[in-house]
Amino acid sequence: MDSCKETLEIPGTFLLLHPEGFLLLRMSGPEGEILSIGVAPTARGHGLGHHLVATALEKAREHNARTLLLEVSEKNPEALALYKKNGFLEISRRPKYYTRQGNGEDAIVMQKNL
Ligand SMILES: CC(C)(COP(=O)(O)OP(=O)(O)OC[C@H]1O[C@@H](n2cnc3c(N)ncnc32)[C@H](O)[C@@H]1OP(=O)(O)O)[C@@H](O)C(=O)NCCC(=O)NCCS
Repeated sequence: MDSCKETLEIPGTFLLLHPEGFLLLRMSGPEGEILSIGVAPTARGHGLGHHLVATALEKAREHNARTLLLEVSEKNPEALALYKKNGFLEISRRPKYYTRQGNGEDAIVMQKNL
């Protein structure tokens, strides 16, 4: 698999870019945060999500981060499975955080210690 290329580097923010996916990472002192990740629908299920998360973990360690955080909808089983498999644990919930659909979806805040 092609490795990710970093095409954007503004202070503390990195865009890991792959032809069929991306991950946006923000570093802030000892904390990093995955702001967004996406894989093209036709490319899903072939390991690119794992690769992007692994690359983000490497980058966070290079920057001496102690933890990596993220937020995901309770109704996103693919992303929840991806993060759990990569060692992220739920640390809190933001009730009805995503309001685009129906009565809202909780945001699950997850963390991995590095
Ligand atoms: C979440 C997303 C990035 C995963 O990307 P991907 O390239 O399909 O992920 P991978 O192929 O590396 O699979 C990673 C893990 O995700 C889980 N997964 C992937 N597809 C799945 C599916 N259809 N159903 C359930 N779990 C799934 C599995 O646990 C898988 O690990 P495994 O293959 O070891 O079992 C992709 O589905 C996506 O872009 N979704 C839309 C955007 C989004 O929801 N972003 C997250 C916002 S927080």
